[in-house]
Amino acid sequence: MKKIICLLTTLVIANLALAQGDSGIGKEKAFTCMGCHGQAGIRNAYPGYRVPKLGGQSAEYITIALKAYRSGERSHPTMQGHAASLSDEDIEHIGAYFASIQND
Ligand code: HEC
Repeated sequence: MKKIICLLTTLVIANLALAQGDSGIGKEKAFTCMGCHGQAGIRNAYPGYRVPKLGGQSAEYITIALKAYRSGERSHPTMQGHAASLSDEDIEHIGAYFASIQND
């Protein structure tokens, strides 16, 4: 019985950690995003093609936005393409990462 309680506690803690996202893992997952979202001046290589600033936004907002792109609720061809390959965990980690940095 004690073992089972111990195991359950571990699972609950592991789940909490996941729900919060890990900015270190998020940094690796967000590598491909930085070509567009990591630029000074928040523009990518194409003139006039504006990209929203993600650094310093709340993790919650970023996860909601990514899930909305993934489900098609929010439409943008590029971002839907990127979000489609992300799992819920990836999205939590990425949210934690962008919330932890300031890019300006
Ligand atoms: C080719 C350029 C490009 C790449 C690569 C890219 N994005 Fe985006 N992203 C955009 C553009 C443009 C928008 C604005 C789309 C819109 O108007 O809905 C956007 C919007 C977003 C938003 C919503 C921001 C807001 O303020 O509402 C989030 C969150 C986001 N991107 C996250 C990511 C993540 C995470 C990745 C990597 C997995 C990524 N993006 C890769 C161009 C890009």
